[in-house]
Amino acid sequence: MPAMLAVENIVQQYPGVRALKGVSLALDAGRVLALVGENGAGKSTLIRILAGIEQPVEGRLLLRGESLQLANSAESQAAGISVVSQEFRLVPQLSIADNIMLGHELTSGGVVRAGHTRARVQELLSTLGLDLNPDRLVSSLTTGDQQMVEIARALSRDFDVLIMDEPTAALNRAEIGRLHGIVRRLAAQGKAIMYVSHHLDEVFDLCDEVAVLRDGSLVHRSETGALDEQALVEHMLGRKPQTFERAVDAAATGKDPRLVVDGLRVGGFDEPFSLSVGAGEIVGLAGLVGSGRGELTRALFGDRAALAGRISIDGVPVQVRSVHAAITAGIYMLSEDRKSEGILPHLDVTENTMVSRDPKSVSGWRRLVPSRRSERAVFERLRGELSIRVPHGGQLIGNLSGGNQQKVLLGRALQSGCRVLLLNEPTRGVDVGAKLEIYQLIRRLAAQGVAVIVSSSDAPELTAISDRCLVYLAGRQTAELAGPDITEDNIVGASVGQVAVGGTHA
Ligand SMILES: Nc1ncnc2c1ncn2[C@@H]1O[C@H](COP(=O)(O)OP(=O)(O)OP(=O)(O)O)[C@@H](O)[C@H]1O
Ligand SMILES: [Mg+2]
Repeated sequence: MPAMLAVENIVQQYPGVRALKGVSLALDAGRVLALVGENGAGKSTLIRILAGIEQPVEGRLLLRGESLQLANSAESQAAGISVVSQEFRLVPQLSIADNIMLGHELTSGGVVRAGHTRARVQELLSTLGLDLNPDRLVSSLTTGDQQMVEIARALSRDFDVLIMDEPTAALNRAEIGRLHGIVRRLAAQGKAIMYVSHHLDEVFDLCDEVAVLRDGSLVHRSETGALDEQALVEHMLGRKPQTFERAVDAAATGKDPRLVVDGLRVGGFDEPFSLSVGAGEIVGLAGLVGSGRGELTRALFGDRAALAGRISIDGVPVQVRSVHAAITAGIYMLSEDRKSEGILPHLDVTENTMVSRDPKSVSGWRRLVPSRRSERAVFERLRGELSIRVPHGGQLIGNLSGGNQQKVLLGRALQSGCRVLLLNEPTRGVDVGAKLEIYQLIRRLAAQGVAVIVSSSDAPELTAISDRCLVYLAGRQTAELAGPDITEDNIVGASVGQVAVGGTHA
């Protein structure tokens, strides 16, 4: 029996980048295929071709053995292919319902049947376990809920092939579990599914087969059970992975407090937030959606009016009533929302990294003349350190793969020259190899005396990097973990209010 969907010898070329170098791959009915690879390997490029958004320069597509031409995304949908793309394609100014049903309202004799549409949306949302009013505007949703709406949209169509590009990058554990249940059910119904993720545990838990792209070529394909995580990572990187030495600076916690937050009241939470971060210390913040950790970092960056409380840096009180005031005070933040609060899409990658640079870091007359040459040098250093895959520093950031955009934004934060660095989901969408390098860079920055707060939904990340880890639930601190107590189990347990073993409790 021919494969449900196959690609043969696909080549895709962008100016200066050969993103796919002759890839052949098949998807079978009833099976979940994981597609993995480093940032920039070509995964989303292949998906854009299957979605009809781009046409390859060479190669062909086959649907049940028959040649398939896709001139646009409508043709891809009509062929029974439904895609959850990595960068959301939602319209923020429209409601959840409108976004989900956009382009395929249930019609009867050409008339939109609003009642039907609504019922269908409600049903989809509840399948996904989403308790949201379908009339809410998408712009008012958290990144995680937007991701769920994007998934609901893909599931709302008739399809035989479902392709998901990093669907869980912004989801919490419970949501991931629900999504996996749905994917398994769809596979059991005979759908062919392609699943892209940088979370290798998902590859092994959920997927039947795995294909690895490296630098635009397919380098491995097998049943998932035929290899282990170590072997998979080696296929992805083309070399043995590094190991990350935690190298926790035991003295860090004892060092002078650099950032002290005292009784900060943030709207929506009953209890005030208080914490202190030493110079050179990395403090992890854990907690589910609604825990308050996002609101806390935003308040520290002057982005939400804090209602009361005191903030001081190196013993000097600071007022952070605006982002500008926060930056002036020496605080910098990486937002979790890469698309709407991170990238400046009309600027190139060098400009995107330089916007955070403190003018005081440039000495003498140079301050008056922004030098393109010195900016390029800074970008080149970051490109090496963060392994950013881009042909040159003048490339528009929007043309980079998702993970490479994330690295540019992290580079922006790392060289902002701040004393207090707030990192929200710093490695969202970053591949396993680059993650470790990023942890080492953050650690190095801390060693220079920066007080670092890492707010993350990735428990393994927090165990890898934190000197201390604070866990919140509904605005209350449920645990403060240090040293050997910083474990995934303790973090996850305290996030849902279970007593963490060995932790001190607030
Ligand atoms: N429009 C474009 N113009 C130029 N280069 C592009 C364009 N789109 C993608 N690229 C390049 O093609 C390569 C493959 O990108 P792709 O988005 O497919 O990677 P990916 O495997 O999805 O990575 P990630 O894990 O980071 O999402 C990258 O080097 C990227 O910079
Ligand atoms: Mg991608």
